[in-house]
Amino acid sequence: MKKKVLAAIMAAAMVALTACAGAAPAAPAADAAAPAADAAADTAAADEAPAATGGGKKVAVAMPTQSSERWMHDGANMKAQLEELGYTVDLQYAEDDVQAQVSQIENMIAAGANCLVIAAIDSDALVNVEQQAKDAGIPVIAYDRLLMNTDAVSYYATFDNKGVGTKIGEYIVQHCGATKDDPKTIELFMGSPDDNNAHMLYAGLMEQIQPLLDEGALVCKSGQLDFDSNNTLRWDQQTAMKRCEDILTRYYADEELDIIASAFDGLSYGCMSALEGAGYTDANWPMITGQDAELMACKHIISGKQTMSIYKDTRLLASKCVTMVQAVLEGAEPEINDTEQYNNGKIVVPSYLCEPVPVDKDNYKEVIIGGGYYTEEQLAE
Ligand code: BGC
Repeated sequence: MKKKVLAAIMAAAMVALTACAGAAPAAPAADAAAPAADAAADTAAADEAPAATGGGKKVAVAMPTQSSERWMHDGANMKAQLEELGYTVDLQYAEDDVQAQVSQIENMIAAGANCLVIAAIDSDALVNVEQQAKDAGIPVIAYDRLLMNTDAVSYYATFDNKGVGTKIGEYIVQHCGATKDDPKTIELFMGSPDDNNAHMLYAGLMEQIQPLLDEGALVCKSGQLDFDSNNTLRWDQQTAMKRCEDILTRYYADEELDIIASAFDGLSYGCMSALEGAGYTDANWPMITGQDAELMACKHIISGKQTMSIYKDTRLLASKCVTMVQAVLEGAEPEINDTEQYNNGKIVVPSYLCEPVPVDKDNYKEVIIGGGYYTEEQLAE
């Protein structure tokens, strides 16, 4: 039994420490693996005299869905890193069902969680349960997605969400070759309207591409440039596919679509199916952006089906969020680097913004493989 427990702790430590070692995207994968072995040995020693600060306190982590790879990584990283510090973790996914997430959080509160970490599906639907947590003295931390219209949230760990849009936009401007004399067509596939991140991404993207739209170098034939017409509820792949099919039929019968500005890899896959259905081939395949650098998206980048994605190192995000958990539970100082941008309608939430990194065929080896996010073998499978 003791052996099993020790093995479990070592396994968790391996995951967590490999993750931390690999957090700097430039670190070679081989180097990232070595410290993990040492660290596991250290943890074995720590089993004799536990140095962990968590003391078994219960941290409940509410995640949106297992249908997208990034949230699986987020959940696993949070669990491993918190357990390594001696916290008990209650990790739950709500499969993009808003009411299911509300019930899960109610149950977490009833089960005596000491701290709640929430990546919301629809944050407006969570205002009441957040108030319940506050009334019960349970601190709440927003994970990746801002919790809106509540003063119950203490901290927010995320990526620079406007920066994601800026980087997608910059990439398009720098690589699409559109000019007034040689205009390119573009369509936008943005994220979920109930997710603040989607609005920020859109703002960052539009800032970059608006000048080209104004001068006629970029042309959106559907005219669906405002967020109300190009958002995708729940970031749903099928919804994006259907909208893309519709756009291709209605507006691109006589002219090709050159650029798909997609806000998430899942939306890009939906658009790819629509393009294939409409007869697009390697010869006229458009530039396609994305977000999350999912394994599938990286494979598509290598094969040329997807042009770029935004890599968000979920190991780094989890480690920043864990410092916030420690801050609210142990009185430690969390690392904060933004106290202005994230006004949730009630308060400005002290935040840590991790840096999103654009990846394409030219830098994926350095960023993705070098950073230890995926191995060369995983990408080749
Ligand atoms: C996250 C993105 C993710 C999207 C869809 C957003 O809130 O910031 O990284 O692609 O949700 O899951």
